[in-house]
Amino acid sequence: MKKMNFMLINNLKPLFISGFMIIGLVFFVSCNDVETEKVQDEGELVSVAESDIPDALTVIHNRKSVRQYTDEQVSKEQLEILLKAGMAAPTAGNRQPWYFIAIDDKNKLQYLTEYLQYGQMLNEASAAIVVCGDLSKVNIDGPEYWVQDCSAVTQNILLAVEAIGLGAVWIGVYPSMQRTEDLIKVLELPENIIPLSVISIGYPDGEQQPKDKWDADKIMWISK
Ligand SMILES: Cc1cc2nc3c(=O)[nH]c(=O)nc-3n(C[C@H](O)[C@H](O)[C@H](O)COP(=O)(O)O)c2cc1C
Repeated sequence: MKKMNFMLINNLKPLFISGFMIIGLVFFVSCNDVETEKVQDEGELVSVAESDIPDALTVIHNRKSVRQYTDEQVSKEQLEILLKAGMAAPTAGNRQPWYFIAIDDKNKLQYLTEYLQYGQMLNEASAAIVVCGDLSKVNIDGPEYWVQDCSAVTQNILLAVEAIGLGAVWIGVYPSMQRTEDLIKVLELPENIIPLSVISIGYPDGEQQPKDKWDADKIMWISK
């Protein structure tokens, strides 16, 4: 009996050893600074260390309108990250009725300010994204949903701006008829493309604090 037990233990030894090795490996990987795949770059996933990325709630609560910028230029790669975040937004019926104009030419940005009543911060910005609705893609059952779709896009971009350490502000265009018509004219947009917002983007000049808007009185709870 003793001999049989000994033989059994001897036979199971390699199994025990490989089991311990696998557990050790899993423990080692989980203890190290795990790399996560976060941003898709031209079809390839770019790995970003987990510790570099603020969590979603931190980004949401830290976002604020930033209207003063340094001279540092926002890169095309950064703009692409922002555009990808925009196109990750939900849309009614998944119609994705959007179109974007990405501008990183300072002269063009300054020219735009002449057509945007509350858009003077574009004078300092090094980039802007114009978020537009594409009326040729809207849902027949609810054509006006493009406004909500493109608003979700705009918010996604503002959050991504915060996440990558830039500053931005939403400049309202639609439904102000004057601003919408002016922008269509200056950007020479085709008739199906309607600008909803201009997002002015740059490196923040100085530290701005997010506003605390929490108000428990504005909530009606329906609970069991
Ligand atoms: C639809 C919309 C239009 C806006 N238009 C402008 C604008 O034309 N110019 C501007 O400086 N800020 C504009 N803002 C930014 C608001 O002024 C800002 O979000 C608000 O004061 C709250 O501040 P916060 O973004 O720092 O939380 C707009 C925001 C929204 C949602």
